Amino acid sequence: MRTGATSVTEAIATRRSVRAYLSRPVPRREVEEILALASRTASNSNTQPWHVHVLTGRTKRRVAEAIWQDLDAGSGVAPEYPYQPDEWCEPLRGRRRRFGDRLYRTILGVAPGDHGGRRAHHRRNYDFFGAPVGLILTTDRRALAGGLVDAGAFLQAIMLLARERGLDSCPQASFLDFHPILRRHLRIPDHQMVVCGLAVGHADRDHRLDRLRTEREPLDSFTTFHD
Ligand SMILES: Cc1cc2nc3c(=O)[nH]c(=O)nc-3n(C[C@H](O)[C@H](O)[C@H](O)COP(=O)(O)O)c2cc1C
Repeated sequence: MRTGATSVTEAIATRRSVRAYLSRPVPRREVEEILALASRTASNSNTQPWHVHVLTGRTKRRVAEAIWQDLDAGSGVAPEYPYQPDEWCEPLRGRRRRFGDRLYRTILGVAPGDHGGRRAHHRRNYDFFGAPVGLILTTDRRALAGGLVDAGAFLQAIMLLARERGLDSCPQASFLDFHPILRRHLRIPDHQMVVCGLAVGHADRDHRLDRLRTEREPLDSFTTFHD
């Protein structure tokens, strides 16, 4: 039996994006507890623009199958809002490349030009990397950029509360390309836009993907003190 983080510091220090899970279920009351606590997150004038769709069992499988079908037919659509640039600038480009190299080349043994190998891993996003619970997080588009800021803070609260319970997670923007499928299967109203998916479950510590650890820039590279 794994124990969870016992402080916020430990929850933050041990959180990482986990991309391989055991089938061990996560009880619904645990998910409810996490989400109810996460709703204490601060938001613009307490507007609480977020909404969470909790996917398990048959629905989770149907969504994955519908996305895989579109993916294999090459008929994915663009995200409904500009999530990331086509061309990255430094220093973001370098950080992104280092992460991609570590994930694909070092951990998975997939060479840079091996598009099939990359696709095979990417595909696994859509069954939430085998996690028993998948969340689809949406926010109210009428809140504008503030709605995304609030949803991001809410997302982090969920990930840390999961750590406290010995659970792991992985945020997944990959779902954005398939928002019409999510909208249809989950009956997401027009005023809500998809922020990301989140896999939640128990990490498979024997999986090779479990060796992936990411680095961070030093404090002085992202902090300026003004006296
Ligand atoms: C909003 C958001 C979307 C992400 N989307 C994906 C995704 O689609 N697939 C994936 O494998 N990881 C995804 N990640 C995880 C990042 O790659 C990961 O957070 C980053 O590399 C740092 O690693 P760490 O979370 O293990 O510290 C996402 C993270 C965030 C915050």
